[in-house]
Parts: sequence; C-alpha cells; structure tokens
Amino acid sequence: MTQNKYQTVGTSVKHESAHLHVTGRAQYTDDIPEVQGTLHAAFGLSERAHARIVSMDLTAVRAAPGVVAVITLDDVPGEKYVGPVIADEPVFADGKVDYVGQPLFAVAATSHDLARRAARLAKVEYENLEPLLDIKSAADKQAYVLPPARISKGNVPETLAQGPHRHQGSFYCGGQEQFYLEGQVAYALPGENAEMQVFCSTQHPSEMQFIIAHALHQPAHTVKVQCRRMGGGFGGKESQSWPFAAVAALLAHHTGRPVKLRADRDDDFMMTGKRHDFRVEYDVAYDDDGLIKAIKFEQQLRCGYSADLSGAVADRQVFHTDNTYFLETFDILSLRVKTNTQSNTAFRGFGGPQGIMAIEYVIEDIARRLGKDPLDVRRRNFYGKTERNVTPYQMTVEDNVIHELVDQLEQTAEYRRRREDITRFNAQNQVLKKGLALVPVKFGISFTATHLNQAGALLHIYTDGSVLINHGGTEMGQGLNTKVAQVVAEELGIGIEHVRVSATDTSKVSNTSATAASSGTDLNGKAAQDAARKIKAVLVAYAADHYGCDTADVVFRSNQVHCGERVILPFAKFVQEAYNARVPLWSSGFYRTPKIHYDFKTLTGRPFYYFVYGAACAEVIIDTLTGENRLVRADVLYDAGRPINPAVDIGQIEGGFIQGMGWLTTEELWWNKDGRLMTHAPSTYKIPSISDCPEALNVAFFSNGNVENSVYQSKAVGEPPLPLALSVFFAIRDAVHAAGNQPGTLAPLDAPATAEQILRAVHAVAPRLKLPELATEHG
Ligand code: MTE
Ligand code: MOS
Repeated sequence: MTQNKYQTVGTSVKHESAHLHVTGRAQYTDDIPEVQGTLHAAFGLSERAHARIVSMDLTAVRAAPGVVAVITLDDVPGEKYVGPVIADEPVFADGKVDYVGQPLFAVAATSHDLARRAARLAKVEYENLEPLLDIKSAADKQAYVLPPARISKGNVPETLAQGPHRHQGSFYCGGQEQFYLEGQVAYALPGENAEMQVFCSTQHPSEMQFIIAHALHQPAHTVKVQCRRMGGGFGGKESQSWPFAAVAALLAHHTGRPVKLRADRDDDFMMTGKRHDFRVEYDVAYDDDGLIKAIKFEQQLRCGYSADLSGAVADRQVFHTDNTYFLETFDILSLRVKTNTQSNTAFRGFGGPQGIMAIEYVIEDIARRLGKDPLDVRRRNFYGKTERNVTPYQMTVEDNVIHELVDQLEQTAEYRRRREDITRFNAQNQVLKKGLALVPVKFGISFTATHLNQAGALLHIYTDGSVLINHGGTEMGQGLNTKVAQVVAEELGIGIEHVRVSATDTSKVSNTSATAASSGTDLNGKAAQDAARKIKAVLVAYAADHYGCDTADVVFRSNQVHCGERVILPFAKFVQEAYNARVPLWSSGFYRTPKIHYDFKTLTGRPFYYFVYGAACAEVIIDTLTGENRLVRADVLYDAGRPINPAVDIGQIEGGFIQGMGWLTTEELWWNKDGRLMTHAPSTYKIPSISDCPEALNVAFFSNGNVENSVYQSKAVGEPPLPLALSVFFAIRDAVHAAGNQPGTLAPLDAPATAEQILRAVHAVAPRLKLPELATEHG
C-alpha cells in the first residue's frame, strides 16, 4: 500500500522511537535523571466510599522517617477545586470522602518507599454516609453528575405498539482500566521567580499547566509542562493525570525542592477513573425482515463521584447508538449516573464503543428472534447512500462505504462457508461450541466540543539542513510523532532522518487540546503541514529570485532543491545560503477543522468532520463445562483512508482490537459491598496477553480516500478499531446460543464474558446441562 505520488507519506517508515523502545533507552518521565535534593511523594487515600471526615490526625505521618512535608487541602494556595469541564473535584478531600481511593493528603519524603510508608500512618476517623454503589439503584434515585440528555424523533410509543414484532431487554457491560504500562507520574522542579517546570506523563500538557497554575494561584506563563512520551495513555492520562501533576507541583512549591510523584500501580487503580460501565434497557419494534421500526433506549452510564469528562463520553455514546444503521423513530435517553466510585473518564473510544454495543446487542436479538443470520439483519438496517442517511443527531452521512466494506469482508473472511462449517461442528460436538459474528463499525471523528478541534506547530530549520518540529500533540506509542515527521519530510522534500520531533512543551506551542478523540494526526499533522508550507513559500520565493527561476518550477525533492529539471543545490547547502541571505528559517503553523458545529443542549449538528468505517469477523470456541473461551480467528477490514504509515496503522488496529477483546472478555472490575475496588493489580485484573491473541488475526485496509480534506486524505485510526472487538463478544453469544439450541431464546450474556458469565448464560439457555453452583454475583 505505497503511494508512489509521495516519497515518505504512505510508506511504513519505522516508529521514530522504535530503536529506543526495544533497547530500553526511550526516556520516560521516571527515567529523567533526578536533580540533587529531589523528594518523592505519595498520597494518603480514603478508606471509605462515602463518609464525613470527623478527624484526620497526621502527626505520625509528619514524624515518620524521611518525611519533609505533608500537605492537605488547607495548603493549596489557589483554587481548591479542579476539573476538566466543571471544577467539582477537590485537590484533597474537603471534609468528606466520595470514594475509596480519594486523595486525603500527600507526603513528600526523601525516598519513594519512605513516602509510601509514611502515608499509611494517618489516623482518620470517619462517619459513614449512605454510599451509591450500584448503577441501577443510583439511577432509580436519580443521582446524576450531570442532567440527563435525550434525543427522540417520531411517535415512539405508537410505532413500538404497531410492531409487527416487539421485545424488550436489558444488559450490563463492565468498565475497563486503562492499564497503561507506564503508570501516572509527574516530576516538578521549582525555578526562580515562581517558575515551575513539570515533566508529566500526560495526554494533555496544557490542561496540566492550567490546573497547576490555578492551584498555585499563579499565571500560566510561570508554569511549563513537558512530555517526551507516555508508555500508553489510552484516555487515562487525558484529564486524570492532574492529581499527579498538581500535587507534585504543590509539594515542590511548598518545599522549594524538586518533587517526583510516581503512583504505585495499586494506588493508580484505586484513585483514577476507568471506562464507564453501563446498563442499557431497550424496547424495539421491527418487521419480518428485521428492519427496525422504532427503538427506545435508556443508557445508564456509571460516571463515578464527579463529572470529569462524563458529559462528553455520554454524548459520544448517544452519537454512536446508531452505529451503521438508519433509525427513523427513536428515543435515546442518556443518564449520567453518580456513584461513590472512581470518577470514570476517557478510554479509547470515549463512549463510542458503549453506544455501538447497545444497538448491536439489539440487532443480534432481532436476528435470533426471527431465526435469521445477524449479518442479514445488519444489512437490512444499514444507512442508505442518498436516502435514509440522516443520523439521530441530524448529521447527513455523506461518506458511507459500509455496504462495500462489509461485502468485501464477507468474501475474504468466507463468512457463509464458515457459518455452515460451524453449524456442522456444533451439531457434532456436545461440550465445545463455536460461534461466529461479523460486526460493522462507523466511528465519528472530531472532538464533539468544537473549540477543541484546533492545533498548532512550530518548525525550525537549522543551517545544516536538519529540521525540528514541535506540535501540540503527545506521543503515547500511537506513532503520532512519526506521522508528523513524515508530513514535514514530505512537504520539504527531505528524508525522514533529517526531521526530529521534539518533546511536547507548553512553552513552545500554547493552549493545545488533549491528544485524544483519535484526531492527533488530523489536527497536528495539518498544523505541521501549514508550518512547513509557510517556510517553503519563503524559500521558494528566495530560490526563484536568486536563481532566476519561475516559482512554479521550484521543487523540493530527494533532499535537493530543483529549478525545473535542474538541481540548484542540496537542501542543506541551500538552507545555509538562504540563511546568509537573511531568510527566516522558522515558522508557526495552525489548523482548525472546518465544517463542524454542535449544539450541546439539543445534541444536534455536525459534531464530526468525517466517519471511519470498519468491520470485523470473529470466530470463537467455548467450553460449555468450564465457561472458557478462545478467539480462533479474526478478520478485520478497516478504512484508514490513505494511510500515512500503513505499518503504524496496522499496529493501532491490532492493538485496539485486542484491547477491545480484553474489555469484553477477561477484564473485570469488581467492587466489594463497601465500594472498595478489589481488582486493583495484574494479579486480579486480567488484560490480554500474547497467548490470548488468535492464531489468525488478519488485518487489511479497505481501499478508500477521505472525501474530506484531511492530511494526505488519511483517516484516524486510534480508537475505531476497539469496538470491532464486539465481534468477539457476539461470537461468544452465538456459541452460547448454539449450546442452548433453542431457536428464538436469547442468551442473557453480560460483558465481560468471563468464564462465570458464559457458564451462567449457557445455563440459562440450556438448563438441561448440569452445571456447578456458582459462588459470586456479577456487577
Ligand atoms: N496507542 C498506543 N500505543 N498507546 C495509547 O495510549 N491511545 C489511544 C490510541 N492509540 C493509545 C494508542 C487513544 S485513547 C487515542 S484517543 C489515540 O491513540 C490518540 O492518538 P491519536 O489521536 O494520535 O491517534
Ligand atoms: Mo482517547 S479515549 O480520546 O484519549
């Protein structure tokens, strides 16, 4: 998949840090050599889910060996409440606690170990308050972090009543811990005249800068936040890197010494929010072909104790409830439920996977009820190309390729033949059952908050011809810096080895958006392109003038500057000459996404610049006696537009798919009756490992350009692959149905489909199978 038109864009150049990653030389925040006198910090955390703090005695903490400072809310000189959208989170508990794991105070000591030991010595007296722990009862009490939102069209009750077929259902889908391999960490260095420099593993350096500035009660220009790279973020470092950044800075301010705050994995799990788990109740009417006539959804999203990004996550869930299907008469109610648990936050897909799951569950139900293949029911409901193409939020779908894409995958994955093979296998096997599912995905690209869709870049060419580009995005392994370097190299006609991307730095490019919503390359790639084109225009004018050449004939290619067919000079020599002639060799760049707008109140408009499409076909096998499952084969077809870097994109698709599989199969978050998260380390929380990956994972690109003017007609690839793993979940449900072998019966399978869940579902549809008593209750 090379694009011959270009030299660097469209080729699989290696990740700019690959050689550092694999040799352990990539510098993460914790690897930065420590300045003499550096202190190490740890948090003291709440032991109760909901309680008034009667007293907090920190005497023993202060007296502990190595302790230099202990701070509480009283020691915050500026704003005591923060939050990415609404400032509803106290920096430290403010007289009460709202979840187990909430920070109460922080300690700075001479070593990481001493800080952690000291933090355990606090004597806190609580007076318990009634906690909200379960989504359904919190929703029944109308406990919300934000008001409900609803979009509807047509007469839903009447159309539902008309059928001709109708049924109701509900299901639960668990959350997911981001489990970045590098935990949350920040390193703050106080400077002269109130300056504060903070190295932080964050997707959002600018937000960290502002939160630190507000907490310190200082102007933003005193605070500089830098991030070279993250060892993964997955949304977990979009807003929720703030306690680490802010408290490291507060302690540095308080002590006048450098302070590093690196969370222990268990503390990280206990403190920070995860993917929102949710419940869905639905009511659907459809015809004999499975065409949906009317649908009613109530989505109950667990937001945790504060708003964080939950409003935007819930909106995105609503915006993905249609997936690839045209809904004519609908009522979608989104409840942003408040609970006394961690404040749930961004996680790859940001509510999109949750929205898609709801409609896919219903589609599967319909197919099962009608005795049809789910793929046929899916097709029957697809958006049309020129009609039946308006989404529930009133955006016209103009770039729909789902018909062709699914047709192609159906062929390449041999869906029909394998369906027959599986039916035969299931007829011959009592204990092992196979299942198959092909799930399409349409994913909207842009931040729904319109103002976030902007980016800046700063480009320098040095007189030796080497190029340094800085942009507002952050590198978390996804290859953003590689793609931006490719864009700059392409624009300047030089080899990628001459381009270096510097660490993200709030003092270079200001007021940046989070690297999120999969739009890192779309935004920063365009901003970098703009910067490169601006410099190039100046250099072209110089070349034309100096060498008596038409500007249209000046071409930068293969590390050389050409005038028509004639080579003027190698790029480096040319640049030196331009410098001597006093031509500026640096430029800024800017980009804002066109066309988009969206009304928060009515949830309507054009929130997305374009859509990404994809589909996946998964085959699983389950053991009906143990509940174990295994993904045997998966085929993914993905529309990345014209990929800037096919290898990087394939990595994103594979990684996103397997991460989605983890969400839906093994990753189970479990809180005990006191609201304490019990699965807070790899010992109890199971993310996929290499042995969980299928033997056959075939990823291919759907040949397509972006109909919108994106950077080199590429499309986003960060998040949309994740919901493709719904194919694994529905293949498991298909296998469960096969175990029951009772046409029309629906398996009550919740996610994640752990062994216990699968057994329970098998038991429900196949009561004739004798199964052992199961000890634990889910959710
Ligand atoms: N890939 C890696 N390796 N590590 C990550 O943390 N985060 C994902 C995705 N892919 C992530 C990743 C998430 S949540 C998003 S929003 C995008 O990358 C962000 O980067 P992009 O906008 O440059 O695609
Ligand atoms: Mo990604 S969830 O938008 O950080």
